[in-house]
Amino acid sequence: FRLPWSHVCLLFHADDNMLHGPVFLQEPSSVIFPLDSEEKKVKLNCEVKGNPRPTVGWKLNGTNIDIGMDYRYSTVEGNLLINNPNKTQDTGTYQCVATNPFGRIISREAKLQFAYLENFKTRVRSTVSVRQGQGMVLLCGPPPHSGELTYAWIFNEYPSFVHQDNRRFVSQETGNLYIAKVEASDVGNYTCVVTNTVTNSRVLGPPTPLILRNDGRTWLGFFGCHPGFKEWPQIFPR
Ligand SMILES: *[C@@H]1O[C@H](CO)[C@@H](O)[C@H](O)[C@H]1NC(C)=O
Ligand SMILES: *[C@@H]1O[C@H](CO)[C@@H](O)[C@H](O)[C@H]1NC(C)=O
Ligand SMILES: *[C@@H]1O[C@H](CO)[C@@H](O)[C@H](O)[C@H]1NC(C)=O
Repeated sequence: FRLPWSHVCLLFHADDNMLHGPVFLQEPSSVIFPLDSEEKKVKLNCEVKGNPRPTVGWKLNGTNIDIGMDYRYSTVEGNLLINNPNKTQDTGTYQCVATNPFGRIISREAKLQFAYLENFKTRVRSTVSVRQGQGMVLLCGPPPHSGELTYAWIFNEYPSFVHQDNRRFVSQETGNLYIAKVEASDVGNYTCVVTNTVTNSRVLGPPTPLILRNDGRTWLGFFGCHPGFKEWPQIFPR
C-alpha cells in the first residue's frame, strides 16, 4: 500500500490545506479619532484565515459598505482604511464579514467615534460679587466636545493656577470652581481651562472677575442654577 505524493503532503500540512470556513485572527477594535489629527486616515483591522481564502466585506450600522462607491474607502488584506474621516459620514458601528464556500462569520462591533473640542462662544462674563466669608461657585460651561475633558482654572494670569485645598475645589465632572469662605486674596479674574485628553487640545473660557461686596446683607454667592450645586454639601462639610 502506497500513498501518492500529493496525499503525503496533505497529511503533513493538514491544518493549512484542509478546506474550512473562515476564522478570525484579528477582529476590529473601537477607535476614537481626533478630528484635528495629522494622521488623515482610520484603519479598522480584520484578519481572517480560511480555505479557500475568504472574501472580507464591511458593515456600517448593519448595512453593507460598498467599498467602490466612496473613493475614501479602501481595503488592504481585509482591513478597512478610511481616508479623510468625516464625523457626519463615518461615525458608527463597524463589523467585518468574512465569507467562503464553507461558511460566513461576522466580527464583533467596533465603534468609530470622533474627538474634538470647540472654542468657547462667549467672550465676556459678568463680574461676580461675593461677601467675605461666603461660599461661591463659578461655572465653567465647556464648549461642544467629544472625548474626555479635564479642567483647571487660571487665577489672574497664566501660569498662575488655582490650587485646590480645603477651601477650593475644581469639579472634574462639570469643570466648576468652588470656593468656600471667600477671602480678600480670592479677588481677581478666573479663567476656566478645558483640555481634551484625546485630542490634547486646550481652550480657555472668558475670564470672570470676582470682587468682594460690602453691602452688609447676607448673600450666598451661587451664580446660575446648575445641577453642580448638589456637589456642595459633600465638598465643604460645615
Ligand atoms: C463631512 O460630510 C458632510 C456631509 O456629507 C459635509 O457636509 C461636510 O462638509 C464634510 N466635512 C468635511 C470636513 O469634509
Ligand atoms: C450610525 O448609528 C449611530 C447611532 O445610531 C449614528 O449616530 C450614526 O450617525 C450612524 N452613522 C451613519 C453613517 O449613519
Ligand atoms: C481682571 O481683568 C480686568 C479686565 O481684563 C482687568 O482690568 C483687571 O485689572 C483684572 N484684575 C486683576 C486682579 O487682575
